[in-house]
Amino acid sequence: MLLENKVALITGAARGIGKQIALAFAREGCHIAFTDLALDEVTTATAEELRSMGVRVEAYASDASDFEAAHAVVEQVTEAFGRIDILVNNAGITRDTLLMRMTEQQWDQVIQVNLKSAFNFTHAVSPVMMRQRSGAIISLSSVVGINGNAGQANYAASKAGIIALTKSVAKELGSRGIRANAIAPGFIITDMTKALSEDTLKQFVSMIPMRRGGEPEEVAKVALFLASDLSSYVSGQVIQVNGAMA
Ligand code: NAI
Repeated sequence: MLLENKVALITGAARGIGKQIALAFAREGCHIAFTDLALDEVTTATAEELRSMGVRVEAYASDASDFEAAHAVVEQVTEAFGRIDILVNNAGITRDTLLMRMTEQQWDQVIQVNLKSAFNFTHAVSPVMMRQRSGAIISLSSVVGINGNAGQANYAASKAGIIALTKSVAKELGSRGIRANAIAPGFIITDMTKALSEDTLKQFVSMIPMRRGGEPEEVAKVALFLASDLSSYVSGQVIQVNGAMA
């Protein structure tokens, strides 16, 4: 097994890509700590599904964009599991609209949840990984963080920020045995993208050379590669998972 007895902390993993990453890691023997906004039915069901795979699982209700709350969760996870080998900064939201119509609140919310949460958790987890002299940090960026996208200035800026954060962390912490990488998914079919209109969906798919949206499991497989020793000399990189979408 690729992650036997390792411990992963994944933010926003009650559903979607985060959940599939948790399942892929658990399948490889990894113990899972995950956060989401509430310990509701969805979160509890995900925790149960993971537990049925025979690994230790703890779910935490926590807003990833809150600096103090993120540090409190990391303290709880370290106490409960004794270590953190893998951090996945996955929690994210969209508040799409054209720049001219974008409110200050829409800008701030997206930067706060998508970018600041990655800072919060990386900041809290890095002393733990430094003590261990090992660790893998994986953050969810997006193709639009590389290419930009009309109607997503806030989201694209937050996802470009994730890339710069990742590359900087890789340089700062590489000598301590810590790797940091980003995944830039293209169009993945989850609740986030199901909110789009039928027309927008069709338009997206027509722009993808592979002529289909990706599955969250296909992102999870890349996360598994980046979390495991299969990528032991890969750091500071952005891997696009996008069906050749430019
Ligand atoms: P999703 O909306 O299905 O799931 C996101 C999860 O994060 C939810 O469970 C939600 O409750 C949680 N969350 C939201 N705000 C939070 C907060 N402040 N604190 C803790 N948890 C919070 O989204 P999806 O599609 O699974 O996206 C996961 C990540 O992948 C996001 O960072 C997203 O930006 C990124 N991504 C997704 C793409 C897609 O096409 N679905 C494409 C590129 C990137």
